[in-house]
Amino acid sequence: MTARATARDGALAPRLLAWFDGHARDLPWRRDPSPYRTLVSELMLQQTVVATVIPYFQRFVARWPEVTALAAAGEDDVLAMWSGLGYYSRARNLHRAARAVVERHGGALPSDEQALAELPGVGPYTAAAVAAIAFGRRTFALDGNAARVVARLAGVEAPIDRPATRTQLRVLGQEWVPADRPGAFAEAVMELGATVCTPRAPGCARCPVAARCRAREMARTTEIPARSPRRARKVVRVACARIFREGRVLLVKQRTGLLAGTWGLPARELPQDGASASPARVLVSTLHRLGVEPRSLILAGDVRHVFTHRDVTATVFDATPAADRAGRAAEADRRATDDDVRWVSPHELTTLAVSSFLRKLLEVPAASRLQGPSPTRRPGRGSGRGAKGDKRLESP
Ligand code: ADE
Repeated sequence: MTARATARDGALAPRLLAWFDGHARDLPWRRDPSPYRTLVSELMLQQTVVATVIPYFQRFVARWPEVTALAAAGEDDVLAMWSGLGYYSRARNLHRAARAVVERHGGALPSDEQALAELPGVGPYTAAAVAAIAFGRRTFALDGNAARVVARLAGVEAPIDRPATRTQLRVLGQEWVPADRPGAFAEAVMELGATVCTPRAPGCARCPVAARCRAREMARTTEIPARSPRRARKVVRVACARIFREGRVLLVKQRTGLLAGTWGLPARELPQDGASASPARVLVSTLHRLGVEPRSLILAGDVRHVFTHRDVTATVFDATPAADRAGRAAEADRRATDDDVRWVSPHELTTLAVSSFLRKLLEVPAASRLQGPSPTRRPGRGSGRGAKGDKRLESP
């Protein structure tokens, strides 16, 4: 088995490009392309399928049509626009990258791959994709779809998640990039991976380059690409409180972790070893700080949410602030004027940066005797969970 580019690869690019010309999906970032639109779409498309990204992309570029407009925006607004798309560090990075483009490059994205890679949060894949697609640079962008395509075409048996294999795949892919239309070639490879050379049951009969595919020749399209055994997800239990007052719920800004920058319920993680730890007891100090009497807690239910690396079960309690207890509610009010604590109405929930996880927690029917706000979903902002072939399990 040889995993290297060979002379017979010569016809690869023309065949793929001809196929792409006839089969490219009509996607909004392919109409009116610009370096900024390419950057936005490529960051959104990391970890997320095309169908989920389309409405987010359209809203995002309608609100901030140029990189300078995005640079001038507030981070909260950018995160709110990203609500439900998941992997919120992408939004913070995109915003920081826009500011860096204004500060370092006078508001025009650099065309050089290295300068692109030096922008905050722009990794080797995104830098190569923007350089090739937006600036016609002769470089190869290796995302998950492209890695699968190259591994099959070249018959690479090593696990494709290993850094050394990724390097090998990038070098192989780079040898195939044509001098003419390198950006279309990058997109053609991704498109083939997304629509034909799929993880399971690849459509080899429809593949324009099947005759050059080593994995097919060896009848190993099921085994290639190989992956290292997955590490088990960390199982986490948390207790959280829905504290209601006059139809509003108290939310806190998450400062760290996967959901940093989004709004969430006051919550505490339960100790790993604490099979005996009572979720309500664990919440006590958090609630005291917010002026809530732990005695008013009523169990609403459990919610499970599976993130890429964490399997979280949250026990949801409903509570009312102890308005009649001296000072306590006043404390909640004082805290609620801080930047990171807020009483939020159902309507405001549609304008803030909130995760799909929070929406799920708010959808648990209210515990008896309490009335909570019922969050409204924004049109077109589903959980982002995709059907078959989705790249991620659930949006955070
Ligand atoms: N996935 C990553 N980049 C893409 C693009 N430009 N078009 C379609 N799917 C993609």
